[in-house]
Amino acid sequence: MRKIEYIVLVSLVLLVSCTPRLGRDSDEAVIAAMTVEEKINLLVGTCVAWPNPPYPAPNTIHRGSMPEDYAAQVISTARMEGRVPGSAGQSYAIPRLGIPSIVFSDGPVGVRIDAYTTAFPSTCLLASTRDTDLVYRVGQAIGEEMLSMGVDILLAPGMNLMRNPLCGRNYEYLSSDPDLCGQIASAYVRGVQSCGVGACLKHFAVNNQETYRNGIDVQLSDSLLRNHYLKAFEYTVRQAKPWTVMSAYNRVNGVLASENKYLLTDILRDEWQFDGFVMTDWWAEEDPVKMQQAGCNMQMPGTPMQKEQLRQAIADGTLDEAVLDRNLLDVLRIIRRTPTFRGVAFDQQPALERHALLAREAAAKGMVLLENRNNTLPLDTQKVQKVALMGVGSYNVYVGGSGSGNVTRKYKVSLADALAEAGYPMDSSLCAMYRDYVKTELGKQPAENFWCVPTISEMAVDKKEIERLARETDICLLTLQRMAGEGADRQLAKGDYFLTETEEQLLRMCVRAFHIYNKRVVLLLNIGSSIHLTQVHTLPDAILLTWLPGQEAGHAMLDVLTGRVSMQGQLPMPFYYDYEDVPSAANFPWSDGDANKVIYREGTAQPTRTLYPFGYGLTY
Ligand code: BGC
Repeated sequence: MRKIEYIVLVSLVLLVSCTPRLGRDSDEAVIAAMTVEEKINLLVGTCVAWPNPPYPAPNTIHRGSMPEDYAAQVISTARMEGRVPGSAGQSYAIPRLGIPSIVFSDGPVGVRIDAYTTAFPSTCLLASTRDTDLVYRVGQAIGEEMLSMGVDILLAPGMNLMRNPLCGRNYEYLSSDPDLCGQIASAYVRGVQSCGVGACLKHFAVNNQETYRNGIDVQLSDSLLRNHYLKAFEYTVRQAKPWTVMSAYNRVNGVLASENKYLLTDILRDEWQFDGFVMTDWWAEEDPVKMQQAGCNMQMPGTPMQKEQLRQAIADGTLDEAVLDRNLLDVLRIIRRTPTFRGVAFDQQPALERHALLAREAAAKGMVLLENRNNTLPLDTQKVQKVALMGVGSYNVYVGGSGSGNVTRKYKVSLADALAEAGYPMDSSLCAMYRDYVKTELGKQPAENFWCVPTISEMAVDKKEIERLARETDICLLTLQRMAGEGADRQLAKGDYFLTETEEQLLRMCVRAFHIYNKRVVLLLNIGSSIHLTQVHTLPDAILLTWLPGQEAGHAMLDVLTGRVSMQGQLPMPFYYDYEDVPSAANFPWSDGDANKVIYREGTAQPTRTLYPFGYGLTY
């Protein structure tokens, strides 16, 4: 080796060994060794494969005005083609400093990636179990699947209070009650994080509606904010120590949640001692400089424009580099904990069969018995020889809502599937009629995608056919269903909050016909938030609220109907007598006719009249 080569080699070795490395050297030393460009990269996500610039402004996504081309783009590219396809985002790697790229995936009903993972029941069902051990086990199973699939941070749980039954994402949230919400969220986070992966509390804060979620200004008093809407977040931060928090899209008292120093620094960090990092909700891009200054560490999924804005602000002195350094400390502290940093190998073999059993157990435990006259349930399986299985939802069950809370499941089990599997005779011509209808109607729609789970309106059944069924079968099981999800709130209209004429007529005709023969009608509700039942709740002999019960839906329904599992679920939110009894009714989704603003005038008022109050649920 020539002398010059020797010198170069020795210098290189010296350089490499002097370069700080994450984990070996202090985080401060690692940050000191970063260039400004590297700092900015790490504070802005990698944005691998979302719609390319120019991005349609995400704050145009609100009810009725999502531009079609945006929807189409998002649907076709709503996945990251990074390390874990279908994950929601990734951070930037800086290999020379030993900093890996970490992976973020939704939550909360399972791990949302482009591979099969378990579709657990919706979280409003988990809250109905009131069983924190069970919720811990669900969190743990999700954590195990993250480890198997190479995911570091789960974007869950969703902890916004169910302020109004029409919020499109209630199915992903936990309760209208902050104490219950905090207890269930803590158990969930502890379960997830027991696997050495991170959870992310979202959406911080007061994101209680989807209508104009990117722009709406939520105005409320400080005491209402702290003592009601932040209470569950505080409890969970203190009890479960989540690794990350996601800021909400909306404004809070005039300031964007992701630029809100009061929320992100004064309350979250200084008062509650949160020691993880904060990320924005996806595309919540307004002013990355203000976000960094407020204590929002990571802009997700990250855009080149955000990086450019930060670069310029550092260059012209409007942003102090020390702010970036402070925010990087939080990020590195968490990256050091991740399985990716620790070099945990992932096998891509999630324990789907074992977790399906847990999904079934949880689903059955969280269903709520709303009515049960004359001990209709559990079914006397000796007497029930033949079932009239009515309602589209009995054949095409909704296992979860739409949007980021959906997962790629391997299968779903409907009540029809479960009854057939267990060998219960069903009226075969009725089954054939429903199956044909479902197939035809599904055939008219695009396959399930991010924004949309295909929905089918209820099929009208001829009166004579119902009379025949009443004569020839022993019991009527009728499922009515509702879909909801991210990007839109539900409608105060027939077919959504209210039953349609077809649904009500079907229920009335079944009850009339079956009661003539002293046979029972059980109504199953496959829904993610409460609906209006006041005019019909006394008609059927039993009402079983099954929620959106995850991939094992039908098995869990049958477990409950037959008494294999005893009923113990309790409502995490009320069913209101009239919509006007909802305390926020006059101020949802906005106040004073101003689509930019919603004032929380209702305080913590309890509803004046409920059909079924919070905590209600019959047992057997
Ligand atoms: C949702 C978040 C989700 C994120 C990433 C956003 O649209 O509001 O809840 O975690 O997307 O998928």
